[in-house]
Amino acid sequence: MSISISKVSFEHYEPGAALSTDAPRISWRFDGDAKDWVQSSYEVAVTRNGKTNTFKVESSDSVLVPWPDTRLASRERATVSVTAHGKDGSSATATAEAEAALLNQDDWSAQAVSRPAFPDGVAKRPFLLRRRFDLKAVPKTARLYITAMGVYEATLNGKRIGDHVLAPGWQAYKYRLAYQVFDVAPFLKEGENELSAWVGEGWWSGRLGFHGGTRDIWGSRPSLIAQLEGDGHVLAQTEEGWEWAEGHILGSELYDGEAIDTNVSVGEWKAAEVLARPQNLVAPQAPPVRRTGFVPAREIITTPSGKTVIDFGQNLVGWVRWNKQVDGTGTVTIRHAEVLEHGELGTRPLRVVKATDTVVLGGQTEGYEPTFTFHGFRYAEISGFPREVETSDFTAVVVHSDFERTAHFESSHKELNQLYSNVVWGLRGNFVSVPTDCPQRDERLGWTADLMAFAPTASMIYDVTGLVGEWLGDVASEQLDYGKGRPPFIVPNIPLPGQTQIQPPPPVAVWSDVATITPLDLYTTTGDVGLLREQWASMKAWLDEGIPRTESGLWKRVFQFGDWLDPRAPPDDAANGMTDPTLVADAYLIHSVRIAAKVAGILGHEEDKKRYQAQAEQLLDAFHAEYVSPNGRIASDSQCAYVIALQFQLAKSEEEAESWAATLERLVRQGIFKVGTGFASTPFVLLALAAHERLQVAYRMLQEGECPSWLYQVKMGATTMWERWDSMLPNGDINPGEMTSFNHYAFGSVGAFLHEVIGGIRALEPGWKRIAIQPRPGGTLTDAATSFTTPYGSVTCRWALNADRTIIKATVTVPPNTTAEVTIGDQVQELGSGTHVLEGAWKDEGEWPPAPITYFHFPGDEKKSTYVA
Ligand code: BGC
Repeated sequence: MSISISKVSFEHYEPGAALSTDAPRISWRFDGDAKDWVQSSYEVAVTRNGKTNTFKVESSDSVLVPWPDTRLASRERATVSVTAHGKDGSSATATAEAEAALLNQDDWSAQAVSRPAFPDGVAKRPFLLRRRFDLKAVPKTARLYITAMGVYEATLNGKRIGDHVLAPGWQAYKYRLAYQVFDVAPFLKEGENELSAWVGEGWWSGRLGFHGGTRDIWGSRPSLIAQLEGDGHVLAQTEEGWEWAEGHILGSELYDGEAIDTNVSVGEWKAAEVLARPQNLVAPQAPPVRRTGFVPAREIITTPSGKTVIDFGQNLVGWVRWNKQVDGTGTVTIRHAEVLEHGELGTRPLRVVKATDTVVLGGQTEGYEPTFTFHGFRYAEISGFPREVETSDFTAVVVHSDFERTAHFESSHKELNQLYSNVVWGLRGNFVSVPTDCPQRDERLGWTADLMAFAPTASMIYDVTGLVGEWLGDVASEQLDYGKGRPPFIVPNIPLPGQTQIQPPPPVAVWSDVATITPLDLYTTTGDVGLLREQWASMKAWLDEGIPRTESGLWKRVFQFGDWLDPRAPPDDAANGMTDPTLVADAYLIHSVRIAAKVAGILGHEEDKKRYQAQAEQLLDAFHAEYVSPNGRIASDSQCAYVIALQFQLAKSEEEAESWAATLERLVRQGIFKVGTGFASTPFVLLALAAHERLQVAYRMLQEGECPSWLYQVKMGATTMWERWDSMLPNGDINPGEMTSFNHYAFGSVGAFLHEVIGGIRALEPGWKRIAIQPRPGGTLTDAATSFTTPYGSVTCRWALNADRTIIKATVTVPPNTTAEVTIGDQVQELGSGTHVLEGAWKDEGEWPPAPITYFHFPGDEKKSTYVA
């Protein structure tokens, strides 16, 4: 029986990160197995400049409590010690350092420095910048505040500063440019010092987007902004007096790859040019992009045409590192791809992206990694290598925003475990500072519906709150700046094909509904009302101004992506699915308006709450008039129509909901348990079946092994989630559609069903102060273990059925300072913190396997049941 605090944190920053707020809210997370532990009060002791102020608060709050002391000044450091007292008299203490970053734009005196302008419209070769400066004495404390318009990698006296890569990442740069803060005291020395950095074009000036893309979206001059301070003085900063030079990096583009010549050393140093510093620098809550894993080469393959290809065994995002010194002459070329098609590198899905790194041999290769590019790949084709390639020659380096991992899932079902792994890897590959659609082709863009669909799953697997919260801020900034209330469907927004500048977007449902749906999802995971407050203007603008409406208040018929990529949509027309796209838009509209009413209530905007409640009722009537027959059929006879109608509670009576669930069941059985949903409805299909007493039908669909289904991908050897249900066709051809990625997370939204229904873990209240634990076994599963690190500590549920599936045994852990409503079979109880071993009688919720419905077949032609047992 112990209690301890495992983590003290500020807002949603990673530990140790400098803060861009002067009154950071404080959270502490618990560890230990203390039984029924409830906090009765807490103390926060804040030590600044050797003086300690202690604040005692009678409260059970331990998440995002207000900063108790006077506000922090720019650069100020405070030691924050938290003691949590339990009702049982026990207590726990932990400490963290809070450091304010540069809180005001005028704390910056640095300018930006760059090389002379590049000619128009070219890819920009990375360059070096440096400044030498003398120090009479090494300061006691030193901080480097640094960023780039572009991407940078800095060194001080030859030593690499920090472990960030592709810093400062991508933001909607017009509104904010992230900077990093490093403690550099250990790198400084008496006498001459040298601060230097490589600078590349990155997202700032690099080519972005499809159909050729656009360069220089935010500016054509990659540049560095750095301010080095020691003991309260500026020691060096980007201004007049810097120099620039070229070196061994001949070119580096995000999409196309990097070229280096190991024979080239740094060229002549010339005077750098000074540019204006942007006025929107901010220390981010999003964790930086780092190397988060290393995957050894699994196999060297000789392809049918005689090429040498390394298989890393896992589709991932990052690059290839050279492990050894390779002597010789000529150029080694590394081409990256996610799949092999009939044994050869499958590069067609990359469209125009080259995804190729080249290395001219002659100099040092050991340890080489590209600096300012990244690739989505499992396979790397090597040509020009001076000898046979060995598996020990190269390692794949995994790169993404370095979040804390917070959920795990495992079960008795091997393929399901692989599916979960694919969901996790889909997340890892698509959070390189922005939540993106895919990491490999000429997009890698912040498509909003992709994140909207995946956020509930993502926000459990990793702590994505800091990043997604800031990205939602970018959604709001862009939307409110353009006027008309429409959030762009790509954030950061970029010019679309045919445009030379960023344009206000057309209105489109589901994608723009990210403005209402995702803030509420994040609130559910974190309990952070602040996130709702920040997004409130964006929610309102979308609903009040953004949507072109008919007199009834429903959507006018305009272009919609609809239930994008449902499996019946033709390969070349992903929006042309089974469900009327305006019906999809209208169902989402009602859902969004109800969310706005709820959020208005939470924020205390009573007038808005009433207005949105009334509007939701009117819209519901209009929806029924438009799409629901008097006997309760919905206008599109598709899984999607019934799934979203059920999930968004559009039925007017329980009987109607039941008849919809029965129709959905019919459609699923008639579809022989193949998935029939796209982006708009896949996140909910299994949840809707489970919520309406069709649990076994949900399991049957989940366990289906033929295309289209989740496990079809697994059976085809997928190690990430695919964009299309059939990105790879059963015969091994890559889907002929021009848009075919093997790393798209939207269909990974099935993770919510794994966590909540199989795993049985769900927030009963936003923020997890009250938890529901209720595993619902089904299909052929016999056990599962799921965990999630709530804001209070870890909740776990490990269950197993006996051989005849009549008894369920479970070990559950409830985190300190929370309570859980625990249902294990027929046993329901309210439990406090601690580890509990429980048992109940179990009866499967329906027949297994549920039968398909077929209407006509010749004897012997019966459609076979094809689930993966
Ligand atoms: C992207 C998507 C996105 C869609 C919208 C695609 O090219 O990869 O995932 O949501 O376009 O049209």
